[in-house]
Amino acid sequence: METPSPAGSRIGRYEILESLGQGGMGIVYKARDPRLGRLVALKVLRTDWACDAERKRRFVREARTASALNHPGILVIYEIGAHEGVDHIAMEFVPGGTLADRIASGPLPADQALPLAAQIADALAAAHAAGVVHRDLKPSNIMMPAADRVKVVDFGLAKLIGPAGPTDETSDVATLSGVILGTAAYMSPEQAAGKDVDARSDLFSLGTILYEMLAGRRPLAATPSRRRLPRSSGTRRRRPGLAPGLRGSSIAASRRTRAVASRPRPSSRLPSRRSPLPRRPRRSPPSPSFRSTT
Ligand SMILES: Nc1ncnc2c1ncn2[C@@H]1O[C@H](COP(=O)(O)OP(=O)(O)OP(=O)(O)O)[C@@H](O)[C@H]1O
Ligand SMILES: [Mg+2]
Repeated sequence: METPSPAGSRIGRYEILESLGQGGMGIVYKARDPRLGRLVALKVLRTDWACDAERKRRFVREARTASALNHPGILVIYEIGAHEGVDHIAMEFVPGGTLADRIASGPLPADQALPLAAQIADALAAAHAAGVVHRDLKPSNIMMPAADRVKVVDFGLAKLIGPAGPTDETSDVATLSGVILGTAAYMSPEQAAGKDVDARSDLFSLGTILYEMLAGRRPLAATPSRRRLPRSSGTRRRRPGLAPGLRGSSIAASRRTRAVASRPRPSSRLPSRRSPLPRRPRRSPPSPSFRSTT
């Protein structure tokens, strides 16, 4: 089956209005659900992958995983279906673009970036509490229904963690002798290395996103789609140029948040968003090297 032409056609009962964009797994259309008279975003699995059982299974799991989460910072899934053998997910339509679009127009002032990062962290905390790790957190997977609100989408690489969880999906991350492809820019070192990941991997991605919001660029110099795997995080070596409004204690707090989240070894990161940020150790006064006897 060919990819349906956007405007005017139907996929199942959905009336296609326009194409919103294309990602790794399929095309997203703005559509109308005539039964309920509302707009939806309809994600349709790429037709050239429609016969791939593994991709199909992951596409269906994306919808199931996301629909099990109920949080204002997580996009609502309305329905999962198939039409003429092609799977689709109908989800809440969010006007206003993505965080990637927002960052493209320049760094965010700290008083905008920090509350947005806190909302993303809260959404992740809810997912992590339900045993779900996002695994593909990046600015294009963060919708902005308003300038001060975010909704996390695409639990496409999410997997239910725990002993009964499904097998590893690291095959999605193409690795070529140390070069990783795709959305690796936000990926934790352990995920990029194909190891098991948990909530701390998402916090690493969040640290990278916070850096990019404040600096307007990613912490690791790279082309968007291809970079060398860091042996350890390069974020410690480079500091973001600070956006206006980031002053005094908020500079220290945001640097500490990002630095702690971006530590290369997961064991040295925070275990969850709920964990208190470590305080910067106070320098003890230098001990005298000799004592006057007079
Ligand atoms: N619920 C939604 N409401 C409005 N627009 C959306 C929605 N979901 C996705 N989009 C738009 O469709 C575009 C493509 O989304 P898609 O998830 O397919 O790709 P991606 O996020 O760039 O990559 P990936 O496949 O890795 O998630 C997004 O960049 C966004 O602009
Ligand atoms: Mg996406």
